[in-house]
Amino acid sequence: MNFKSSESVEVVWFCCLILSCVVSTMGDSSSQLMVGYYSGSCPAAEVIVRNVVNKAASQNPGIAAGLIRLHFHDCFVRGCDGSVLLNSTPGIPSEKSHPANNPSLKGFEVIDEAKSKLETMCPNVVSCSDILAFAARDSVFKAGGINYAVPSGRRDGRVSLFDEVTQNLPPPSFDAKQLVDNFARKGLSLDEMVTLSGAHSIGVSHCSSFSNRLYNFNATHPQDPSMDPKYAALLKNKCPQTSSQDPTVSLDSLTPGRLDNQYYVGLRNRRGLLTSDQTLLTSPLTSRNAWNNARFGSNWDAKFAAAMVRMGSIEVLTGTQGEIRKICSAVN
Ligand code: HEM
Ligand SMILES: *[C@@H]1O[C@H](CO)[C@@H](O)[C@H](O)[C@H]1NC(C)=O
Repeated sequence: MNFKSSESVEVVWFCCLILSCVVSTMGDSSSQLMVGYYSGSCPAAEVIVRNVVNKAASQNPGIAAGLIRLHFHDCFVRGCDGSVLLNSTPGIPSEKSHPANNPSLKGFEVIDEAKSKLETMCPNVVSCSDILAFAARDSVFKAGGINYAVPSGRRDGRVSLFDEVTQNLPPPSFDAKQLVDNFARKGLSLDEMVTLSGAHSIGVSHCSSFSNRLYNFNATHPQDPSMDPKYAALLKNKCPQTSSQDPTVSLDSLTPGRLDNQYYVGLRNRRGLLTSDQTLLTSPLTSRNAWNNARFGSNWDAKFAAAMVRMGSIEVLTGTQGEIRKICSAVN
């Protein structure tokens, strides 16, 4: 090999390196977030959020579930940009007003309280989308003792559209294949989908989200045969067909207030509440993953923490994109 061709080999190598760097930063917006982003600009930011969440969750244990779900619904629609927090404006219904969010989403007032404390302390610095990511982490710790560091530096979006909820959030009627595809569109793997569904180890669902499984499953089976008949009887009692109310039921019947892997044990006992829960165990596509989570609790804890960080990095706005809202329910 002469001098010239070895030089050109080096040039090619160098270009490959640059190119792969560019491609990998483009594909992974999480690389623009960093742990401790506010350590210089608002050092108490994460402590303030944690105190507000702990106080709220002590007064109302259901709030932890609400905040975790709020972060999920934010991230799956237009990325984790706080769009779920925005109120509708005249003529433009926002995500918040969609039936998947209204009236069941909870925790808005907790985010607002943290935001107002932070605006007093360090005005125009901490984004609503970061507050939500911190609050979800603090809720996970409060409800399950699982802790993880949250990369931050998200900025807030200026758009929130009703129709984008329908297009992006998975409904409770989805089967395993549809769930895998839905999460894949957000860059999340099959195992991450099964792992994150373990959030249904706490919190509640309205009867209307699963009553089809009790009363009008299909033409030949009024009741979903993948549900334990004893559990179905219990649910029919809590969700009478004739009621004009829409009561709520715990998503995890074993340890309803504790974020742990007992949700998967419930699936093994055919006590998944939603179609989208039980399918994880009955479908050959995901059953191994669900069984493993039922067997190995501490492994699920670690996977859940990692998957929350990955979910929190979906299509984030950083740098000069978006804005830092002054209040979380409206754009500046
Ligand atoms: C896999 C697809 C998912 C579907 C189809 C789904 C659907 C639902 C539905 C229908 C409810 C009950 C709403 C109601 O009727 O009140 C619910 C509640 C909940 N979801 Fe999910 N969900 C999914 C994934 C997730 C993920 C990834 C998380 C968070 C990481 C999550 C967190 C929660 C929590 C904590 C609750 C309880 C909320 C409360 O008690 O206020 N879900 N989900
Ligand atoms: C109803 O559901 C059962 C159980 O999933 C299934 O075996 C059956 O084929 C379904 N019947 C119809 C008419 O779809």
